[in-house]
Amino acid sequence: MKKLWENNLHGEISELTAMLNNSIGIDKELYPYDIEGSIAHIKSLNKANIVSTDEAEMIVSALSLIRTEIDEGKLIIDENAEDIHSFVENILIERVGEVGKKLHTARSRNDQVALDFRMYLKDKTHIIHSLLFDMIDVIIKISLENKTAILPGYTHLKRAQAITYSHELLSFANMFLRDMERLRDGYKRIDVCPIGSAALSGTTYNIDRQYEAELLGFKKVSENSIDSVSDRDFAIEFMSNISILSMHMSRLAEQMIIFNTQEFDFISIDDKFTTGSSIMPQKKNPDTLELIRGKTGKIYGGLISLLTTMKGLPLAYNKDMQEDKEVVFDAVKNITICIKVLTEIINTIKINEDNMRKALDEGFVNATDLADYLVKKGIKFRDAYNITANIVHTCIEKNTTLDKLPLDEYKKFVDVIENDIYDEINVRHCIEKRVSYGSTSFESVKTQIKNIEKELNEIKNWLG
Ligand code: ARG
Repeated sequence: MKKLWENNLHGEISELTAMLNNSIGIDKELYPYDIEGSIAHIKSLNKANIVSTDEAEMIVSALSLIRTEIDEGKLIIDENAEDIHSFVENILIERVGEVGKKLHTARSRNDQVALDFRMYLKDKTHIIHSLLFDMIDVIIKISLENKTAILPGYTHLKRAQAITYSHELLSFANMFLRDMERLRDGYKRIDVCPIGSAALSGTTYNIDRQYEAELLGFKKVSENSIDSVSDRDFAIEFMSNISILSMHMSRLAEQMIIFNTQEFDFISIDDKFTTGSSIMPQKKNPDTLELIRGKTGKIYGGLISLLTTMKGLPLAYNKDMQEDKEVVFDAVKNITICIKVLTEIINTIKINEDNMRKALDEGFVNATDLADYLVKKGIKFRDAYNITANIVHTCIEKNTTLDKLPLDEYKKFVDVIENDIYDEINVRHCIEKRVSYGSTSFESVKTQIKNIEKELNEIKNWLG
């Protein structure tokens, strides 16, 4: 396929140069945006009286047909073309003849590629945002279904204090809500239309950039043509937001992997999301969760790759910037499938309440509550802490637990302890007593669910 820039001044490029230079294998993914952008551009050229209405209409219908034919697989994108912009323009000229050669007036591939990339990212931000919305919905559903389940909460992976399982699940819903907020915020900086900046300095044609931006659904036009074709901060910010999201998903995956082990056996993952071993018939491995964890590294890599590509580039466009898309496309593909799978895994999770409850019997998860009890009886917290440490030590030596230690043993440490201690350190009661805002108590979890639902309701219309 002919290069857009082939002319008498330029000699043939070598095969290796073409291999290195061609980006069609990657940027063909941009075809819907590229065509939509070209349709808006020809309308804008018509408004500026650069092409006639007849010419514009002919080009619009040819471009629309190209779009449909690619969608339906009737027109195959030629992998020998230099990039998607060249492919679409060449096919257009092939089909409509001379008039097609007017399309590229008042634009350059530099503002065209920036436009396509921004349109792609706007679209993907919407999709990811809406998938996260569904995932949080499912987290709420599972939290409500399992609202009585209690288990040890861990710090340093050592049993720490009793918590409700719904509280733990909802901690992730909060992380994902912030991920959504970051995506919405980053969207503001993606939603800026660069077209009309041309190669770098703007154009001599009197085009209405505002009009073209409105046709494409952009909130505003870019302010500085050099900046518009030079920077990729909008994509870097998107990758950064996706990296944080991925990190949160990876932690949730890891939490489920641990709880799904025979050692914990707190939850079971549906067979649909596990795979077997070729040699060990008993195995059901949580590969999907491991892959969610595994993809995270690759997504971070994409962010670092993009940051590194941009570092030290002189103004304005440089070909290094062609490397911006592959890592973003890959990250989008992976994060999209990972959110969908994770949502289904959460939705089909089985909770083993008995095992969770049993784990609370050991590990002295109520030790803080014993110390708090002593404080209520007038002992200063640091002293109460030390007395409790001694009591726990005795329990370990006697191979017993705080709720089984007889009252006369307690009294050997401090006289203020009475029979009411047993109620005070009962784990369910320990949970109910957590009155601070945002705590693990059943009441607090209800409020947290209400607040998340309220926030979801407020952002529902952003889904677009
Ligand atoms: N394929 C190029 C890219 O993705 C399009 C822009 C080319 N511009 C240029 N001046 N060669 O960045």
